Amino acid sequence: MEPYNTSELSKRQVGAKEVYCFNPGEENIDLETVESFGEEWMKFDAFSAEEIKNAGDQYFDIVTEKQLSNSSYVLDLGCGSGRWTKYMASKAKFIEAIDPSEAVFSAAQAYNDLKNVRFTQAGVDTIPFNDNTFDFVISLGVLHHIPDTGKALASLIKKLKPGGHALIYLYYALDNRGFFYKLIFNASTLLRRVVSKLPHSLKQFVSDALAICIYLPFIALSKVIKTVVPGNLYMKVPLVYYRDKSWNIIRNDALDRFGTPLEQRFTKEQILEMLVAAGMEKFLFSDNEPYWHVLAQKK
Ligand SMILES: C[S@@+](CC[C@H](N)C(=O)[O-])C[C@H]1O[C@@H](n2cnc3c(N)ncnc32)[C@H](O)[C@@H]1O
Repeated sequence: MEPYNTSELSKRQVGAKEVYCFNPGEENIDLETVESFGEEWMKFDAFSAEEIKNAGDQYFDIVTEKQLSNSSYVLDLGCGSGRWTKYMASKAKFIEAIDPSEAVFSAAQAYNDLKNVRFTQAGVDTIPFNDNTFDFVISLGVLHHIPDTGKALASLIKKLKPGGHALIYLYYALDNRGFFYKLIFNASTLLRRVVSKLPHSLKQFVSDALAICIYLPFIALSKVIKTVVPGNLYMKVPLVYYRDKSWNIIRNDALDRFGTPLEQRFTKEQILEMLVAAGMEKFLFSDNEPYWHVLAQKK
């Protein structure tokens, strides 16, 4: 691992690990969103190995062993509970996992035994490493919660070595969905505006209720359609992605979806534009959910 390129504000001992804390940044960060994630991830810090493997395989379906290998120095930006760091730990040489929220301490606790991982509290504007340092960077489900997503992506890519790869997941703008899917989704966005303003305990309760009243019925509907209608019609049902997900993941994602103050959505074209502007090439969008996750190489 490389030394930090700037001095820390403080450090905290978490079991056998020291977590160094840097200024989270002031410009390109939504502090209310970061605080909300800190509370969320402290609650959802215990994904089972099977949950992490199954969900991780879906995000990493476009990554080969050549791109992420046991010689790769990796940065996980916005690591949250640390689940993707855990997923990558056996595949990479060393992982720097950073997040500006309190979640980074739960992650350090949960994955205290991972010898090739260092957890650091910092934000995208204050990543405490030199430019052109990493072989592989990931940021899964993070950059759409940052006010200027394109700028945040560019700051992340600066830390990647030329020729290195980035795996990015950004919420899609439903650009591959039909009219009714979009209609239902837009209605749920109105709900989000209300739920995200609630105090945390109430937010959790309401998100759970929404998971039961919205997610579970749609999942059941997709399963019924799959059983009785031949073909892939069931894949058009909203929330079908969760058909094989655990209750833990469904609850967590419902809280993410309804409880987060700042969320943005992007079409494939918009994501491509941001990647090109950040100096990336050789784009590979996955055809599979979650949409959109994309792999690209730095020029
Ligand atoms: C939806 S969570 C995703 C966590 C993790 N990547 C995962 O998929 O499990 C979004 C994360 O982005 C982090 N985040 C928000 N603003 C950030 C910023 N300006 N810089 C870096 N991370 C940020 C939050 O603290 C939160 O942990």
